[in-house]
Amino acid sequence: MTTQPQPLDLRTPPTHPLVAASILSADFGDMAADCQRVLDLGADLLHVDVMDGHFAPNLTMGVDMIRGVRKHLPGVNLDVHLMVQDPGHYVQAFAKAGASNFAFHVEVCGTVRDSGIDGHALIQHIHDLGMTAGIVVNPPTDVQTLEPYLDAVDLVLVMSVNPGFSGQSFMPEVLDKARWVKERVDANTRIEMDGGLNPQTAPLAVAAGVDTMVTASALFGADDPKAVIDAFHACPLPG
Ligand code: DX5
Ligand code: ZN
Repeated sequence: MTTQPQPLDLRTPPTHPLVAASILSADFGDMAADCQRVLDLGADLLHVDVMDGHFAPNLTMGVDMIRGVRKHLPGVNLDVHLMVQDPGHYVQAFAKAGASNFAFHVEVCGTVRDSGIDGHALIQHIHDLGMTAGIVVNPPTDVQTLEPYLDAVDLVLVMSVNPGFSGQSFMPEVLDKARWVKERVDANTRIEMDGGLNPQTAPLAVAAGVDTMVTASALFGADDPKAVIDAFHACPLPG
């Protein structure tokens, strides 16, 4: 089996929950092969966590990783999650490198903090560059901060851990945020969750309205990764 030639379009409502394999827990020494392995097992897209050591307390990967993965996997949707202070600074470089979706945090926007960025201008820029756009909210942040952006974005990512590391425990209190978003977006907007998802927590996320689930440690660390993907896919999407 090979990767689909056409990258999945996040604007199309899925028929089953999508599995976004977070390469933060992949084999960095054998990245493309490890990604191909989980795609062949049924993962729907690849999630790429970019951290700058300021917004999140870790340094992970950047534009060159996207370029490298894109070169080996031309048909996959690359969902880039920017945990950086100034995501707009990198938008052109990520588009050129082959990113499909570009998601940035509401916490860096001027609507949330003084001297923050213009989130609407960035969403427009992302779209002009041919990518879909996502807005992300951290666990401690009021979900209502997302309100001004809901009509403009293609994806809303509700963090279910504090950004930084894979392998953290799921925070069930964020499920109310997913429910809040679900009541306010149309069928062409994905609701993604990220952090601590596994076959036990995935059904809770999907029942709350999530249709795209990020998984790093539970997938790449599994003895039977196909069983993990199958369990995520089997969560019934609410009608
Ligand atoms: C957390 C990252 C996540 C992380 C998820 O800062 O944004 O994407 O890789 O890891 P798990 O699935 O292990 O919680
Ligand atoms: Zn992420």
